[in-house]
Amino acid sequence: MDSETFPVNPSLPSWLLVLRTADPDRVLWVHEEACSQDLLREYFMNLENALACPVVQVPMRGGERLKTWDAVNELLRLFQGHGLTRSSLVVTTGGGAMSDALGFAASIWKRGMRTLHVPTTPLAAVDAAWGGKTGINWGGSKNQVGTFAEPLAVHIDARWMQTLGERDFHAGLAEAAKHALLDATAMRSFQAPLPEWPCAGVEEHNAWTSWFEASAGVKKRIVELDPHEHGVRTTLNLGHTVAHALEASTATTQCAWLHGEAVALGLHFALHEALNPVLGGGDAMSAEDTEHAQWMGQWLKEWIPLPKGPWPDAASLWTFMTEDKKNVGDEVRDMAWRGVGKVVGPVSWKRDTFEATWETFVRSWNDS
Ligand SMILES: NC(=O)c1ccc[n+]([C@@H]2O[C@H](COP(=O)([O-])OP(=O)(O)OC[C@H]3O[C@@H](n4cnc5c(N)ncnc54)[C@H](O)[C@@H]3O)[C@@H](O)[C@H]2O)c1
Ligand SMILES: [Zn+2]
Repeated sequence: MDSETFPVNPSLPSWLLVLRTADPDRVLWVHEEACSQDLLREYFMNLENALACPVVQVPMRGGERLKTWDAVNELLRLFQGHGLTRSSLVVTTGGGAMSDALGFAASIWKRGMRTLHVPTTPLAAVDAAWGGKTGINWGGSKNQVGTFAEPLAVHIDARWMQTLGERDFHAGLAEAAKHALLDATAMRSFQAPLPEWPCAGVEEHNAWTSWFEASAGVKKRIVELDPHEHGVRTTLNLGHTVAHALEASTATTQCAWLHGEAVALGLHFALHEALNPVLGGGDAMSAEDTEHAQWMGQWLKEWIPLPKGPWPDAASLWTFMTEDKKNVGDEVRDMAWRGVGKVVGPVSWKRDTFEATWETFVRSWNDS
């Protein structure tokens, strides 16, 4: 059926309208295999009804295992097997690892195929699915290989998260906390009580969907101003120098930290540094921002439990920090928080200063 005999239906939800208007020759829908069967059926019907082209459904186990060359190779074979062309479109329904890996594979297939993401974790909903950064891990470090390839759209529906483990749900809230630290309006709404989780019904699901959309709005606005991270987008890296080092240094241990957990600890560390500044930049913090720092520290502790067991020491974190992709030359770069919406950087760490600050931070954490 061609587009003349299959007119665009303006009453379609906006993400389906985007898909329909993109007029793909084929849609490959890759979804997390553990998702709710009822929702999968509902979405498949919606896709089939909205689109004139064939829709192929592929269940897949998500997670960090997808962010390797071997997995990308498999994905490219999958694209070939389904005859995907540059006019095809990949819809992902999964966590951040799935949108990163599928987004990367799609961006290099035939020099670039379009994507649309339906995130199924809080982290992907507020952060990973947006902004077009795709990639895989390489050489033992996070996200070393990747592209910028904006998805056509991102569609958030908190109902997908009902099958998600509690640890992944809570960890994913860390990126929303980061957004609140970057934006005064987001901070105000962030301080309102959260809806119940797990949700009792439709009302709570809708409330979470709106909550995720509001937080994602912070990232969307920043990415629109600076899509390729030459300026304001670097503020989204708040907490991430330490977070990526933590993730990488625990990745092959019994107690691997999730990205969101590592970001939560990275934010705790950034707040600690803000209250005891050793990095340059910015004036002294106002009393209001000091209160915000303390409030956020409590919120993070309440909502994002961290793995038990010893944390990596300063020296091993430093080794991974020297690999961070934000570094320039031999400088280990980071962003420093000096109040809501006041992130300064890039600032650079000296090894001695970092190690001393980390040790003080760990001591004060253990004493609290
Ligand atoms: N591209 C970006 O801008 C960006 C930003 C932030 C994070 N990230 C990346 O995102 C990844 C983390 O994403 P995440 O926190 O969403 O975790 P994830 O994608 O690793 O998913 C966590 C686990 O939950 C499973 N899962 C996902 N959705 C599920 C559901 N609805 N029901 C049951 N199981 C489900 C997955 O299979 C996996 O085992 C990291 O690799 C991080 O580097 C990317
Ligand atoms: Zn992150």
